[in-house]
Amino acid sequence: MTEWELPTARSVYIVAETDAGLVLRHWGDPGRRREFAPPARTPFEAPTDKVPLEFAAAGTRHAQFAELLVQGPDGVDGALLRLVPGSVAVADDGRDAELTALLRDAGAGVEVELHMRTSREHEVVERWARVRSTRAVGELCLTRAFGAAWNVPVGPGARVAELVGTWSREFTPVEVDLPAGQLSLGSRQGITSHLYSPVVALRARDSDDGCEAYGVALAWSGSWRMVVDAVPFRDVVRVGGGADDETAVITLAPGEEFETPHLLGAWSPGGPDGLADAWHEYQRGRLARSTGPEHRPIVYNSWYATGFDVRVEHQLALADVAADVGVEVFVVDDGWFTGRTSDRAGLGDWYADPSKFPEGLGPLVKGVLDRGMRFGLWAEPEAVNPDSDLFRAHPDWVYRAGDRPLTTMRNQYVLDLGRPEVEQWAATMLRRLLTEHPVSYLKWDMNRAVSDGGRPGDPRGREWSLQHTRAYHRLMTVLREEFPHVTVEACAGGGGRVDNAVLALSDVVWPSDETGPRDRLAVQHGFLSAYPPHVMSSWVTDEPDRLDTAPASLEFRFVVAMAGALGIGADLLAWDEATRARARELVALYRDIREVVHTGEVRRLGLPSDPVYAVQYTAADASRVIVLVTARPGAGRGDAPVRLPLTGLRDEARYRVHAGGGTVGCGVLAGHELTGAGVPVPFALAPDCDVVVLDRLP
Ligand code: DGJ
Repeated sequence: MTEWELPTARSVYIVAETDAGLVLRHWGDPGRRREFAPPARTPFEAPTDKVPLEFAAAGTRHAQFAELLVQGPDGVDGALLRLVPGSVAVADDGRDAELTALLRDAGAGVEVELHMRTSREHEVVERWARVRSTRAVGELCLTRAFGAAWNVPVGPGARVAELVGTWSREFTPVEVDLPAGQLSLGSRQGITSHLYSPVVALRARDSDDGCEAYGVALAWSGSWRMVVDAVPFRDVVRVGGGADDETAVITLAPGEEFETPHLLGAWSPGGPDGLADAWHEYQRGRLARSTGPEHRPIVYNSWYATGFDVRVEHQLALADVAADVGVEVFVVDDGWFTGRTSDRAGLGDWYADPSKFPEGLGPLVKGVLDRGMRFGLWAEPEAVNPDSDLFRAHPDWVYRAGDRPLTTMRNQYVLDLGRPEVEQWAATMLRRLLTEHPVSYLKWDMNRAVSDGGRPGDPRGREWSLQHTRAYHRLMTVLREEFPHVTVEACAGGGGRVDNAVLALSDVVWPSDETGPRDRLAVQHGFLSAYPPHVMSSWVTDEPDRLDTAPASLEFRFVVAMAGALGIGADLLAWDEATRARARELVALYRDIREVVHTGEVRRLGLPSDPVYAVQYTAADASRVIVLVTARPGAGRGDAPVRLPLTGLRDEARYRVHAGGGTVGCGVLAGHELTGAGVPVPFALAPDCDVVVLDRLP
């Protein structure tokens, strides 16, 4: 049996050629190779059902779920894909390795090129497939074309962790015990969606927190589906995923090919925390163009302070205070463009509203730059209000499901980016927006689901979600390549479009519209299990929040927002001088800890619902540790001093410990004391929070 090994930073992914096809041999610790049980023979399942095949079509695997469903023009469905002899090749440049393999069914006229890529720099295996028609005549229909079958060796069954939610409660962790059967997650909304995040974590059903864990994520920002298939009594649980197979049908003309969305797999010997490290390391090292402050400046965003009431003098008054407290970029959110006095009008008309900006955006931009900040703008390029010049000029540019009545959500339609002229219009509009004025921060929003996807009369209209997502990615690529100085924040009514494809094309993402600090803590807790702190945009806003009404100090709100890319969204004109002065100190504290927060290893200590909760960030060389502590009312400055056991510090290392933004010294403590009895938390910053900084002594 020939085998091929793909090395990652700490593990190995091994596949082998067998009579049944290309199978997984091992995924994990290179020193602890496991043998899969040989398939027992029964007359009810073919060998291809029983071995951990890396990819199968219906017609290849017979009884179980298949990654590819193909329908030929002659009424014959399925394909018997066989590995083409001699087709497996590995290209290895000493850092990255990529395996390609070709599967073919000449009779069905279909060929699948498998790709698997690893790197010695991180733990993630990237997989995708190219499905090609080799037919001379007639079309192939792909009613499902997932990119890979991940054979996750944790079976039988698994504990499957997901991130679920709804608007304002995104990234809520849930764990499902799946002894057998299928678990399906996805989006049919044309965006990644608030309901499910395209990432799952699997571990053995009887495992504990320090066990081996595997993660699978889908790097896709449109409609999608992931299926976790726990076939009874099998030692692997299969995970597949790709573009949503319930809403898209892909047509391949002779010679045409379809490249599937990419899937990512990660292994960790350190349970869910270790898996989060593996994702963060990859997202930091491979997806981010940098983790420095140039692309994650401290933001002031005026949305919560002004809503649609955007006026130059008012914005400049806010900018005065923003600059004074240490903000680095001033972002004007929704409401600046023509006709935008409410969410009922204006989307699509991306020119400064002459009634609000008689001299254009220039004076506001200049005012912001003169105050020493960068200038940023909000846009929603995919949407249009019926009450807009754009829609009046191009009523045919929006999605239409045949002659069904058009539906608005938030009073808007969705532009059909699958039409080349619409994508072209969006690219031209964005280029103009970013060159007319020195705009160096763009927040790209999307405030509704696509409910009417389709394009009457176009036989490829059933691919609308794929086309839309590809166009969105291309437009984001235009921003990245032509405007490298522009920081891009991705947003979809909060966390409706967060996935690894977006992370590769943006700098920060807006995880939720909910900024009430205790609710936000819960959102961020889940977010950090699969996505990294350097992309996690978070603002300090005013109290009381509409949803989260429990009181929290200003310091608490800052500590929550410091956990990622800090921003402020409060009405700064309502802050008195004492509040502004305190904010200045807190912003300065954040500047001091920002690098470790953005690049350190993250440990979430406890749960946000616990009396005391913290997030520990440890610098790569462990020279500095930051602990952001938050407490429920009364749990902070009580009689018994709070001590919080930290993780991952060397026993003999000695740290000088400060709290309260450097105002209170807590002495010098050894690693074993910090991980044993714990770090003392004096709640020096405020009774409900603290920032503890540990600096290692030489
Ligand atoms: C939804 C976003 O999540 C908010 O931050 C804000 O930009 C509004 N849209 C503006 O319409």
